[in-house]
Amino acid sequence: MTERTFMMIKPDGVQRAKVGEIIRRIEAKGYRIVAMKMLTPTPELLAQHYAEHIDKPFYPDLVTYMTSGPVVAMIGEGDEIIAGWRNMMGATDPTQALPGTIRGDLARAWDTAAIMNLVHGSDSEAAAKREIALWFD
Ligand code: PPS
Repeated sequence: MTERTFMMIKPDGVQRAKVGEIIRRIEAKGYRIVAMKMLTPTPELLAQHYAEHIDKPFYPDLVTYMTSGPVVAMIGEGDEIIAGWRNMMGATDPTQALPGTIRGDLARAWDTAAIMNLVHGSDSEAAAKREIALWFD
C-alpha cells in the first residue's frame, strides 16, 4: 500500500554532513521524496511535534539538541514507507541500533546530554498525517 510519512534529518545529520548519505539510502530503497525543506525548528514547533513527550525528563535536552541548527524535513512516499523507514532508521538509542540501519551505521554511540540519533520518522499513519500537516503547508 502506498503511504506517505514525515521524515527528518536532525541537526547532527546536517552538522556532520550525512544528508547526502541518508537521502541516498532513502532513494536506493525506492522511496520518493515528494517535499523537502531546511529549517531550524522553533521551540514552539517542537512543543507541537513532541507534544506527548513534553513532561518527560529528557525533553529540555531534546529541545536544546533539536534547535541547535537546521534540519531537513521531508515527506516520503512509497510502499509501506511508515514501517519501512523506521526499520531503516534503527533503534532510538544509537548504542542499540543494528549495523545496516542509519543509526547503527552513522550515529555516534557515546554519551551526550541528548540522544543524538540523526533521523526521525512518524510511527503510525495518524502520526504521519499529523506531522506532515504540522511541518508543511
Ligand atoms: S518514550 O519515552 O519511549 O516514549 O520515548 P521514545 O519514543 O523512545 O523517544 C521519543 C523521542 O524523544 C527522543 N529521545 C530523546 N531525545 C534526547 N535525549 C534523550 N535522552 C531522549 N530519549 C528519547 C527520541 O529520539 C524520540 O525522538 P524522535 O524524533 O521521535 O526519534
